[in-house]
Amino acid sequence: MSRSDALEPIVRRVPMIPVVTLSNVASAAPLARALAAGGLPVVEITLRTDAAIDCIAAIAAEVSDAFVGAGTVLTPDQHQAAQRAGARFMVSPGSSPNLLAAARESDVPLMPGAITPSEAMALRDEGYTIQKFFPAEPAGGIPYLDRLAAPLAGIRFCPTGGIGPDNAEAYLAQPNVVCVGGTWVTPDDAIAAGDWGRIEALAREAAALRRSP
Ligand code: 3PG
Repeated sequence: MSRSDALEPIVRRVPMIPVVTLSNVASAAPLARALAAGGLPVVEITLRTDAAIDCIAAIAAEVSDAFVGAGTVLTPDQHQAAQRAGARFMVSPGSSPNLLAAARESDVPLMPGAITPSEAMALRDEGYTIQKFFPAEPAGGIPYLDRLAAPLAGIRFCPTGGIGPDNAEAYLAQPNVVCVGGTWVTPDDAIAAGDWGRIEALAREAAALRRSP
């Protein structure tokens, strides 16, 4: 039994998880609808703005096609607030003893982050076999992930940070990559203009990305 079991069906649903930072609650539900209409129902709302928790609550309440999670979850307080708002999964760029303790008390699956072999091993000891790999490109990208695959067999990663349409499929071809994440399907100017058609079209392209079987 792995702590990542409940995460498995979520990350298998889509090749790409949009990572979205929103300042305006009114954008949340239409954005999530556009992503779901384009084939990306799983969306991560980062806890980097004052509006984030309300955005998660709006999507959870109003967009039945969407599967909303909280990103940039750093503290137990943030974990609890996101859970109360209806987040169905949590993502962190790393991990801390306090965050892991909060996650142990919760049924909401967490994807904690690791870069180094020691971090990844410590998380596996806690039962996390699906881990975020952030920031993917500056940390070493595909060659680095490739070198982790043999010694860290059984750990799979969701890389984010510097991934876009030009390199996403190369990441997804790595056997230890379960899905990728990024901001490229939700450009700030499209969100500000309420250009949901553009976001739906970008989501449709990302939903068609191929990954390793
Ligand atoms: C994340 O939090 O995962 C990153 O902000 C995604 O970064 P990107 O803009 O490079 O996709």
